[in-house]
Amino acid sequence: MSAKAVRLDKLLANLGYGSRREIQGLARAGAIRLDGAALADAGDRIALDPDLPDRLTVDGAGLDPLPGLCLMLHKPLGVTCSHKEAGPLVYGLLPERWRRRDPPLSTVGRLDKDTSGLLLLTDDGALLHRIISPKAHVAKRYRVTLDRPLAGTEAALFASGSLMLEGEERSLLPVRLDVEDATHCAVTLTEGRYHQVRRMFAAVGNHVTALHRDRVGGLDLPDDLAAGAYRVMTASDVAALFAGE
Ligand code: URA
Repeated sequence: MSAKAVRLDKLLANLGYGSRREIQGLARAGAIRLDGAALADAGDRIALDPDLPDRLTVDGAGLDPLPGLCLMLHKPLGVTCSHKEAGPLVYGLLPERWRRRDPPLSTVGRLDKDTSGLLLLTDDGALLHRIISPKAHVAKRYRVTLDRPLAGTEAALFASGSLMLEGEERSLLPVRLDVEDATHCAVTLTEGRYHQVRRMFAAVGNHVTALHRDRVGGLDLPDDLAAGAYRVMTASDVAALFAGE
């Protein structure tokens, strides 16, 4: 099957390189090249082959990833998963141009400002819904540090599917708790209710002092991905998300 073709100016405008007029200016100046040859007319149609980012250059640099982008980011503490809020945002950790992409990149669910770890971002709405849908059962694992020692009864209560969070009308789906020591444990859940982990421990009279997500589905936060760094996901990374569903 041949790849879909789009106008060069539309492709580059949607990747955040500028307005269509600006892109026409870049093309006329010889700044856009395919396999080394200048593309002088930004109205030309170009096939969206997967290897296009290796073949098309703008001002000498390889083209940004095509739409269908999925990223894993090691979210540091202190940044917010929002497009609008004040203060440092996760989008500020990405190249500036990526904030002008259309379709836009969105976080797949959210991590609190005070939670670190594996955060996914994508411009693929169908993929996003597939990951966050409770029906998909994509498990998320959090490493938890507690203020007070575990009582020993939490694992059974969390697994029971009967824990009701304050202000809610529906009990939580079962959550797995693996004890590491008196004040450290891992919890694995498939829902994503607001502040879920912190509220679960508040419901049993404890307090979460540190929270870090290290796994989504079958995908682990890579050891060599430093806090604040991101990586474009490969097709096998995406497949790993749904492994073991
Ligand atoms: N649960 C929380 O309380 N916070 C998060 O960021 C994620 C899960």
